[in-house]
Amino acid sequence: MMSRFYLALILLVCATNSFAQKSKFNDGWLFKADTANSLNEKALQAKPWRPVALPHDWSIEQPFDGNSPSGNRGAALRGGLGMYQKEFILNNADKNKRIFIVFDGVYMNSTVWINGHKLGTRPFGYISFEYELTPHLKFNGQKNTLLVRAENKQPNSRWYSGSGIYRNVWLDRRGNTFVKNWGTYISTPQVSRHSALVNIETKIVDANNQQTELQTTIYDKNGKAIKTLVQALAVNSGEQSVLQQVTLANPDLWSVETPNLYTAVSRVLVNGKEQHRYTTSFGVRHFYFDQQKGFFLNDKPVKIIGACMHHDLGALGAAINVRAMERQLQILKGMGLNGIRTSHNPPAPELLDLCDKMGFIVMNETFDVWSRDKENTPYNYSLYFKEWHEKDLTDHILRDRNHPSVFMWSVGNEIPEQQGGKDTVGRNITRALVNIVKRLDNRPVTAGMNYTQNDNNLYLSGALDILGINYHHKQWEDLGKNLFPGNKPYILAENTSALATRGHYDMPSDSIRRWAGIKDITKTGNPDYTMSAYENASAPWASTNEEALKLFLKYPYLSGMYLWTGFDYLGEPTPYPFPARSSYFGIVDIAGFPKDSYYLYKSVFTKENVLHVLPHWNWTPGQVIDVHVYFNNADEVELFVNNQSVGKKSKQADDLFVRFNGLKFEPGELKAVSRKNGNVVMQTVKRTAGKAYRLVAAVDRNTINADHEDLPFVKISVVDKDGNLVPDANNTLRYRVQGTGKIRALDNGYQADLEPYSNTSYRKAYNGLGLAIIQASGQKGKISLQVSSEGLQPSTVTIDVK
Ligand code: GAL
Repeated sequence: MMSRFYLALILLVCATNSFAQKSKFNDGWLFKADTANSLNEKALQAKPWRPVALPHDWSIEQPFDGNSPSGNRGAALRGGLGMYQKEFILNNADKNKRIFIVFDGVYMNSTVWINGHKLGTRPFGYISFEYELTPHLKFNGQKNTLLVRAENKQPNSRWYSGSGIYRNVWLDRRGNTFVKNWGTYISTPQVSRHSALVNIETKIVDANNQQTELQTTIYDKNGKAIKTLVQALAVNSGEQSVLQQVTLANPDLWSVETPNLYTAVSRVLVNGKEQHRYTTSFGVRHFYFDQQKGFFLNDKPVKIIGACMHHDLGALGAAINVRAMERQLQILKGMGLNGIRTSHNPPAPELLDLCDKMGFIVMNETFDVWSRDKENTPYNYSLYFKEWHEKDLTDHILRDRNHPSVFMWSVGNEIPEQQGGKDTVGRNITRALVNIVKRLDNRPVTAGMNYTQNDNNLYLSGALDILGINYHHKQWEDLGKNLFPGNKPYILAENTSALATRGHYDMPSDSIRRWAGIKDITKTGNPDYTMSAYENASAPWASTNEEALKLFLKYPYLSGMYLWTGFDYLGEPTPYPFPARSSYFGIVDIAGFPKDSYYLYKSVFTKENVLHVLPHWNWTPGQVIDVHVYFNNADEVELFVNNQSVGKKSKQADDLFVRFNGLKFEPGELKAVSRKNGNVVMQTVKRTAGKAYRLVAAVDRNTINADHEDLPFVKISVVDKDGNLVPDANNTLRYRVQGTGKIRALDNGYQADLEPYSNTSYRKAYNGLGLAIIQASGQKGKISLQVSSEGLQPSTVTIDVK
């Protein structure tokens, strides 16, 4: 504890004494948008400005709209044309500094002006970029005006993108000599348990004075300074690269279980006076992929069990929030996952910071399309690929290459240029992209391929280090025998695409629904746009979790897999048309409530005792019900209905769970007991719930910081008199906040719910649950949230705001 405090103190002192600093520039912005998709400037000009706080996503504020040009794959939320403006006055002390503005991401096609001067345009909506403001700035109390225009002409995406300045903006004040943005590259070419060689390359701009030096101090995981390296800089009016090296004895290695981090603080000093300070966090680890034996981290075999994740945060839309991302990652860690694929674009930088700290193995992906459109989204990135791919890919790698959580780069997902034959353009592009990456970093490069013929251009390019296979689980056996000849290791870059709605069950559970696109839901599909949460629904090109997991566990050469997806996300509601507007692929629903399959993974991939029974126990007397039990750390499970044993079962051969199918439902109690060597390991009971009687609100954290970002998440359960969850309750929940906070957004996890997420104080529960996301107003104090519903006893939670 002491040592963490020590690092915090050092960094605080740095921040206050430092000549130069980077600070968030999110406050005080005005905004307006025209969501008509015509990108009509005049219509936009006529709109009034209103204040907004960044990060901001204007699409999530719109109503779900079946006529939206985004389609329901874009969550039926509109984009259009948006404009942001910020006025600010600079301190005269900043006059002699170099001042930059950094955008972590603007969706999309942004143009930025300072005081009427155009700084540039950036089409790619997921890339971070900066502009120098220095020559255009005014001082002496004069106003400066920043203007940002963003175009989201739809359709341009296969999923929900969000619109506007949806990530952080920073004002970065640097001295006249400074470390370039993303100007450090810390690599560890030789690592063992006993020693690690650390290379620190630093790009310095404009060292014009004889007495300029770079001081780099390395801090260990406890914040203790362990070494300072000093290098005099050459007088040079442009950019110079400095290499500093240090050998660490007995390094604290980064691993999934102990994600130890080091910090390097680079200080540029002129005549002993600090000009710029730049902090880089890094990790020490080594790894390799073996074609036959899989993945090794620090010489130990590790199976990568990852999830693909889109960037939206459900009810918050695309507007990034660190606590919301951390909550997602905590929930995914809880089911035993250790990997994230940033499908299919560069993530928010904060996501990688969290993955560094929490121990995730990241496949960091750049593109979903190259030069050709995919699935008829005419305004997508392929329009810009030719002109921008080199800059975008370069910036992505430069920004992210110090993160120890990043283990591989993916240059594309299911790129149409895969398909071979005479058309070889995909080979050349693959080589070009891999070359760009290799100039900057030596981590392996992969791509997600769903075309598994030998004439696949990405494979034939010979340039990929790891072949990323999407789906095709029936061919996984062939991977060991070289599906693609050569000696390249494989990774399952994407698999499963199972479909489920939390708490909904279609029987018989052993008939599998392979549903792709359902046009007439009265003939196929469920009239309420639900999918079954047994292991019995998937997209036709894909598999259930059970099918994929059995094979994944069978073949040692499968180094890892990234399932599609960890959470439900906005858009792509396969297989349903509107009003379905968010996906069914998640192991966790969009509100963050686990579906049953969560416990299947947890039983396989964690050591924690698991005993999970499905479905709920509220059916019609006499109805035939299939009961499945996910469990671990035990040899058998015995199931009881109203205390009568209905049998004992053990997993046979490659079974992942046991099925008690065809039970006759009688109201009362369903109990499962797991035993090992005859001793009870766990016991779990589901009772038939009576009428909804009261609400139970539970908050994930009772104390939060007095800022706009430290969001508490409140789960509301609708229960009967005895506290049993009412599994089909959909009562309207009304929320009232008092004190120093407000409701940020409400959710319930239902994929076809058309109530808006924000600017509302009520929302129905779905299958017994609701979610409220609260936001502090900025002042210290207390927040109290009361949830009520007609005829039910209300519930209140209080949160301390410190
Ligand atoms: C994949 C694709 C993903 C998602 C998924 C749905 O082919 O890479 O982005 O569309 O299918 O099953």
